[in-house]
Amino acid sequence: MPVRSSNHKPRPRTRRRRTEPPPVEIREMQLEDLPTVFALGQRLFTAEELPTLYRCWDEDEVMKIFGADTETCLVAVAGDRLVGFALGSLMEKRRSAWRYGWLEWLGVDPAYSRHGIATRLLKQLTSLFIRRDARIILVDTDEANESALAFFRRHGFGQELRHVYLSQNLDTHPETIGRRETLTEDEEE
Ligand SMILES: CC(C)(COP(=O)(O)OP(=O)(O)OC[C@H]1O[C@@H](n2cnc3c(N)ncnc32)[C@H](O)[C@@H]1OP(=O)(O)O)[C@@H](O)C(=O)NCCC(=O)NCCS
Repeated sequence: MPVRSSNHKPRPRTRRRRTEPPPVEIREMQLEDLPTVFALGQRLFTAEELPTLYRCWDEDEVMKIFGADTETCLVAVAGDRLVGFALGSLMEKRRSAWRYGWLEWLGVDPAYSRHGIATRLLKQLTSLFIRRDARIILVDTDEANESALAFFRRHGFGQELRHVYLSQNLDTHPETIGRRETLTEDEEE
């Protein structure tokens, strides 16, 4: 058996630490985070994921929610990388004494999924809503979004209501047809 010299020192463990992912911190969203949050949302809320046009992810939407109440907008950050967000808002309905917290958009970078990041974002937002006197927390998602549904059900959301969206193609509306004809006539003159 080799005899260790008395001045043997354990190997420094820095190399191993360097390969460990940085811890994820949840903090309030800041103005500088807006472009990164928007870009991450664009990757997550693609047309295939959210085939409905009723709620669409665009810069105005992010600005609107963030501008209304920065306190209820959170981000998850690993080192200098933004890996998740939860954009929430508080609502009061007329003729109702109840205040609602609405989790409008929740997203986690797929490279970090199933690491409990959305869970932490949701927990922190729920505490914020409670501190701001909300009595119900609302979420909505497409019925085909199985991962989100599994996530929300796992976290105690229930009382699922289905909402039917209807639409009508205005291209075939008589007013549109009339307008198109007028425009063509104008161009020909
Ligand atoms: C839904 C989403 C936010 C979950 O984020 P996440 O950080 O991976 O979630 P967590 O790690 O906290 O998951 C907690 C639990 O939720 C459930 N869950 C999460 N993702 C799931 C999936 N893809 N399939 C099945 N269950 C899932 C599991 O029960 C999971 O616990 P487990 O990993 O111990 O099994 C993420 O997949 C996402 O960003 N999806 C695209 C955007 C979206 O649809 N947002 C919601 C509507 S706004």
